[in-house]
Amino acid sequence: MDPPLLQAPMVGYTHYAFRSLLRRLGGVGLLATEMISARELLFRQARGKGLPAPLWRVKEEERPLAVQIWENDPGRLAEAAAWLVQEFRFSVVDLNFGCPARQVAQKSQSGAYLLRFPERIGELVGRVVAACAPTPVTAKIRLGPTRQQITAPEVAQAVEEAGGAAITVHGRTTQDRFGGQADWEAIARVKNYLKRTPLIGNGDLRSPTDVAEAFRRWPVDGVMIGRAALSRPWIFRQAAALLRGDPLPPEPTLADRRQWLVEYYDLVVEHHGPKKATLLMRRYAPLFVEGLPYARTFRAEICRTTAPEEFLRLVEQFFAGQS
Ligand SMILES: Cc1cc2nc3c(=O)[nH]c(=O)nc-3n(C[C@H](O)[C@H](O)[C@H](O)COP(=O)(O)O)c2cc1C
Repeated sequence: MDPPLLQAPMVGYTHYAFRSLLRRLGGVGLLATEMISARELLFRQARGKGLPAPLWRVKEEERPLAVQIWENDPGRLAEAAAWLVQEFRFSVVDLNFGCPARQVAQKSQSGAYLLRFPERIGELVGRVVAACAPTPVTAKIRLGPTRQQITAPEVAQAVEEAGGAAITVHGRTTQDRFGGQADWEAIARVKNYLKRTPLIGNGDLRSPTDVAEAFRRWPVDGVMIGRAALSRPWIFRQAAALLRGDPLPPEPTLADRRQWLVEYYDLVVEHHGPKKATLLMRRYAPLFVEGLPYARTFRAEICRTTAPEEFLRLVEQFFAGQS
């Protein structure tokens, strides 16, 4: 991967519209879909119900592109992964062993629930590796179930022995959810347990300098960026410049930011239609303008509109008000 900067999969956010913007801005080594339930995928197939939403437009999208899936049954996971690889030619299959959400971890005993069972994770990875060869299979994990029970080293070894191509460690435990700080020392310790598998660090990288600093301080082969990219999708190209030894590129102009927001909106409209897209922008647009003056007022205003023309007018008004 060049540069070794990965976009974190994020449900509800890292769809085709967002990835298109990231590709355009550059600097991302590997992009990923939102996570997909293998069980749901197979169920939909069996009933002829069409594709799950995260697969929207992936066929025509540029590569490289990773698909992320979750499940605790090796047969089902392997079947879904093999189908995805064959049908969509994904560059990488990433397996989720880090999601703490109730629906995934408790109800379905998948995602972060599996961190208690490194052997099971090894079995899941092994089955998917065999089913998808030669497509690389990676795993995304947390440090362990709790701070008292850090299993990332054993899990990482299990992933390596099963033929995993890389492992991403989010420096929090399941119990932490998103509280506190990501523990990069604990991420770095995982490296001692790996013989050949690249280690990708993840958690709380908020700026391009955080990214450069992570490579300088910790023995990671790559880093993954999630939430910061929702507000600063240009963080990848800025970080990539720092990694090349170039000076930090300037922040984008307001005109660029306005244009990217409108283009992003257009793609969300293409997928969801104007009404739903405008509602979704209540979630996306405030992140986009984070840190700018009057961002709070803008947020309050767009949360009151469902009309596309009104949304676009508020965007124009907001950016005009910046100068
Ligand atoms: C809204 C949201 C959705 C997420 N969805 C996923 C997901 O589908 N799969 C996954 O592995 N992690 C998911 N995560 C976790 C991120 O991939 C990442 O590990 C986490 O946000 C820490 O990285 P960051 O500090 O750079 O955001 C999600 C996080 C957020 C905030």
